[in-house]
Amino acid sequence: MNIDYNETIPNNVDLSTDKALQRALERWRPRYLQWWLEMGPEGAQHYDVYLRTAVSANASGWAHFDYVKMPEYRWGIFLAAPEPGRTIGFGEHKGEPAWQEVPGEHRANLRRIIVTQGDTEPASVEQQRHLGHTCPSLYDLRNLFQVNVEEGRHLWAMVYLLHRYFGRDGREEAEALLERRSGDADNPRLLTAFNEKTPDWLSFFMFTYFTDRDGKFQLCALAESGFDPLARTTRFMLTEEAHHMFVGESGVARVIQRTCDVMRAHNVEEPDKVRALGVIDLPTLQRYLNFHYSVTLDLFGGEQSSNAATFYSAGLKGRFEETKINDDHVLKHDTYTVLDVVDGALVEKEVPALTALNERLRDDFIADSLRGVARWNKVIARHGIPFRLQLPHKAFNRRIGTFAGIHVSPDGRVISAAEWQAKVHDWLPSEADRAFVASLMGRVVEPGKFANWIAPPASGIKGKTLDFAYVRIN
Ligand SMILES: [Fe+2]
Ligand SMILES: [Fe+2]
Repeated sequence: MNIDYNETIPNNVDLSTDKALQRALERWRPRYLQWWLEMGPEGAQHYDVYLRTAVSANASGWAHFDYVKMPEYRWGIFLAAPEPGRTIGFGEHKGEPAWQEVPGEHRANLRRIIVTQGDTEPASVEQQRHLGHTCPSLYDLRNLFQVNVEEGRHLWAMVYLLHRYFGRDGREEAEALLERRSGDADNPRLLTAFNEKTPDWLSFFMFTYFTDRDGKFQLCALAESGFDPLARTTRFMLTEEAHHMFVGESGVARVIQRTCDVMRAHNVEEPDKVRALGVIDLPTLQRYLNFHYSVTLDLFGGEQSSNAATFYSAGLKGRFEETKINDDHVLKHDTYTVLDVVDGALVEKEVPALTALNERLRDDFIADSLRGVARWNKVIARHGIPFRLQLPHKAFNRRIGTFAGIHVSPDGRVISAAEWQAKVHDWLPSEADRAFVASLMGRVVEPGKFANWIAPPASGIKGKTLDFAYVRIN
């Protein structure tokens, strides 16, 4: 499973044995590079960045670290090793051999799943393209670029599947993935969260904590797919994804650490006084958290979804850790609890489990998100500060599904539009909050130096010290 780097497109799928496919991807490549130059990290294309590059799809020692100029990054096609004799683990085809080619009757659904996943990858690069101008350190700048090049590679992963398995319409979809633009009024990205701005580094850390974590859960569900090439592709993507969530969790933790250090040193608690010391007050952190968490919850789709049921029964998209769940993996006779709105109150109801698979994946995501919030709260507790961050109620600030038409407070009360209007600035970042955070975003590019609003990390990358030149700005 070692990766062939002698090819124009590094790969471990024997691309050179399929000349037509190789040529098609080699024709797509310059258009990808053009997109990267236009929409990738702004003003940073000539920097030497200390990046990891995948060199093997084996879990141990899969990456190599060295200075690379981003446009020269070796984007390629890497699938996790095949599992001999793998069978489909769920749905109506459970127990049958996993598909190595696209089953005709599921072609349209599979293509839709792959395009939706693929669209998020370049979208996040576009959302983050201005952040290099305001990096809090070279260490953080390098992490941003690492995330960006890997999202670029995830686009390659999906484009490979489209080209290899979907013929002409797959190639057309691969072109369209380079044409949509995050936030564009005429040709936006497919999902709302990927059309939001990521204007500052606090947003970036919250995005990588919550929205890349949505990515993890979607990829985990696809890693169970009966369509084996999709399962193997997403399994390898998950190896890279772990770092993105680390960037988010440790980034927010360092912001908290710095804020609490300053609060203790100066013995201040009121947000205005905390802000006057050039750090981000904890209530503002909570509002940013509320925003990114609620926008990300929408990505899982409606509570009840016939598409989700179809994708599962057809064997295309499983549950999180499907193989570890102790049930029949068909779910025809099972139910699941979802929330409904009845007479202005949130009430639980039992629905067929097959239709509630979006909600189940969302609940798995929530449980995972809680763990990092608990670790953030430990940082605050260690400073003897009584404040605690919380995930808002899952019905808070939702635009998709059951709660789209109603207002719900962070503690889960259905409220009037008037109450929402009166309190929304306590719950979601206001223009003033965003302007304050933006005002802190200076550019720090001296090795070993960190912006005032964030603590240094506990350790550097790949054993390097914190004053290592993670990016050489030439
Ligand atoms: Fe990704
Ligand atoms: Fe990611």
